Amino acid sequence: LLMDQLTGMDQLEKRLATKFNIERCLIVSGNSDEQPKVVGDFGELVNDALHRRLQEGTNIIAVMGGTTMAEIAKHVTPMETPKRHNLFVPARGGIGESVSIQANSVSALMAANAKGDHRVLYVPEQLSQEAYHTLLKEPSIKNVLATIKEANCVIHSIGRALHMAVRRKMTEDEIVTLRQDRAVAESFGYFFDASGKIVYKAPPIGLSFEDVEKIPTVIAVAGGKSKAKAILAYMKHAPEQTWLITDEAAANEILKGA
Ligand code: F6P
Repeated sequence: LLMDQLTGMDQLEKRLATKFNIERCLIVSGNSDEQPKVVGDFGELVNDALHRRLQEGTNIIAVMGGTTMAEIAKHVTPMETPKRHNLFVPARGGIGESVSIQANSVSALMAANAKGDHRVLYVPEQLSQEAYHTLLKEPSIKNVLATIKEANCVIHSIGRALHMAVRRKMTEDEIVTLRQDRAVAESFGYFFDASGKIVYKAPPIGLSFEDVEKIPTVIAVAGGKSKAKAILAYMKHAPEQTWLITDEAAANEILKGA
């Protein structure tokens, strides 16, 4: 029976990776909407993937925020070696999450657990154009932005569009526009409709989608039946080198319509 289950999961992973045309898919059993332990399992898989994929020399690992990423950070284990150094940075700045789940916090915790280093990017969400352009000229900010652009690994999550718009306290007008444009997914500050088309972009601070496309290791982590539509939409746009880490509930829901 156990063998059958293992093969079943294997097949599910292959079907999903083929459907999305991505390098790999890893599926954890259960439903993260109802079982918090599943997110811990995502963390273990991300940690394994990092240990295997990070190279000799200096790795720059860009991370996003959110509750999934904050939990994953707790599962990172020491990954420094005499030949390998790891620097964690937030992938984007200023997208209005609360402190404990901000990309800066996730990056700092991962670095502490990995025994590596981290850099912070402090660019607040609501800025006038003028302040924004001035800030981007600040040497310390310019510096960290240049480092972020050199990332060779990125770990990110995927969220439901309207849920994320509300969580980030976007304006009523912006939310109305997102509804009109039928946004269903959000990742990296971009909103996507069900066909995978970008319908909204947050201010460009940090990694852009064009940057992500060139990064050799891209790990996307999102699960739960409630995120199935969001995952499906985002994956239409995901770069081919992406590894998707998800759960059985999301995978089954996605493949139901296939
Ligand atoms: O705001 C950061 C972010 O990673 C978003 O890009 C993503 O949609 C969301 O958080 C995921 O949040 P959660 O893990 O809490 O569902």
